[in-house]
Amino acid sequence: MEKTKGVKNQSQKPQNEDKRTVELSGHVGFDSLPDQLVSKSVANGFCFNILCVGETGIGKSTLMNTLFNTVFENEEASHYQNKVQLQPQTYDLEESNVNLKLTIVHTVGFGDQINKEDSYKPVLDYIDTQFGRYLEEEMKIKRSLFNYHDTRIHVCLYFITPTGHSLKSLDLVTMKKLDSKVNIIPVIAKADTVSKSELDKLKIKIMSELVSNGVQIYQFPTEDEAVTEINASMNTHLPFAVVGSVEEVQIGNKMVKARLYPWGTVQVENENHCDFVKLREMLLRVNMEDLRDQTHARHYELYRRCRLEEMGFKDTDSDSQSFSLQETYEAKRKEFVKELQRKEENMRQMFVNKVKETEAELKEKEKELHERFEQLKRLHQDEKMNLEEKRRELEEEMNAFNRRKMAAETLMGQALTGCSQQPFKKDKDKKN
Ligand code: GTP
Ligand code: MG
Repeated sequence: MEKTKGVKNQSQKPQNEDKRTVELSGHVGFDSLPDQLVSKSVANGFCFNILCVGETGIGKSTLMNTLFNTVFENEEASHYQNKVQLQPQTYDLEESNVNLKLTIVHTVGFGDQINKEDSYKPVLDYIDTQFGRYLEEEMKIKRSLFNYHDTRIHVCLYFITPTGHSLKSLDLVTMKKLDSKVNIIPVIAKADTVSKSELDKLKIKIMSELVSNGVQIYQFPTEDEAVTEINASMNTHLPFAVVGSVEEVQIGNKMVKARLYPWGTVQVENENHCDFVKLREMLLRVNMEDLRDQTHARHYELYRRCRLEEMGFKDTDSDSQSFSLQETYEAKRKEFVKELQRKEENMRQMFVNKVKETEAELKEKEKELHERFEQLKRLHQDEKMNLEEKRRELEEEMNAFNRRKMAAETLMGQALTGCSQQPFKKDKDKKN
């Protein structure tokens, strides 16, 4: 009884005061809390989202099939995409009663464009969109995060081509842009196409380039004692050189996944041949929960902070006094209303000005039209007068002509009469 009281009082003390450890005199039962958590998590199931970034045909789909020991539906991408597209596919997987909702996102057409400047943007936008969706759900009044399909990317497998001497600038730019948004694990794809010594050199070169360009790749955590050793050793093997294949080949009396060549066999799960097993162990068996946790606690937290700050939320005011959400909301609302009123006034003023301008323009046009009309009227009157003048001249000419014609006719008539009387006179003279 006394002890219970002591424990109760302790909870009312200020947080920074030393805690009292009290002995329990018997089994209480809260030691089953971890088990409760496990069974609740198992019942809810888990989700894990992988983003595969790499050039077309680099072996992304094959590696995913090999990792999960299945064949996901895959279509070959063409090399003629005019921009990079993100293609997510979700699958429900089950292993020993543990349900996993797995989403694999492929970058279709990555590195195929002549201008590769904006290749990383669709990838970045996709990651941000998933964070945005989660934030939206979190900010809802009626949240249902327990059954929300979390699509935030937990890991980005960045496929590096093994043929170059080092990283391409596209790789460096993309990884640099993504490193604050997602856990990046770089892998050298199709590692069976380079010799062992070349591969070792390539790995060193890649790591030194990543360091010199300040690209933060995911480091396997070493805080948890249970995995300190393995994770620390695996950090030195990055980037993993992987080979993918779902083809089964008989080696001795065992069927193993391998790639067959005229000169020999590359066994996917043989650690002397490639780092596939290391990748699978690190990604799925040892660090899956840390990847999920880092995504939420580091990358999403950063996104959320930036977004909320963008929206005008802050935890403290200018005097570093803590700011309640309610106060922030009120301040923001007032600011918003003020801004809205200012915009409304601006728009009204703009509208009035526009009406005035249009009115003046119309008046100007009307004046121009009037002047044109007057001008045309004057022109018309002048033409009319000219025509009138010409008509009068023509009439006079016609009258003169008629007069001349009549005179001519009279003359002609007289002349004819004269001619017909003369022979008669001559005959008369002859008889006489
Ligand atoms: P898209 O989805 O079309 O961009 O291609 P992808 O990146 O998914 O490549 P995919 O897995 O379809 O493999 C393309 C070709 O590379 C196939 O012929 C694979 O057999 C081959 N391939 C895949 N993995 C490896 C590998 O590790 N080594 C070698 N040598 N070839 C591989
Ligand atoms: Mg593919």
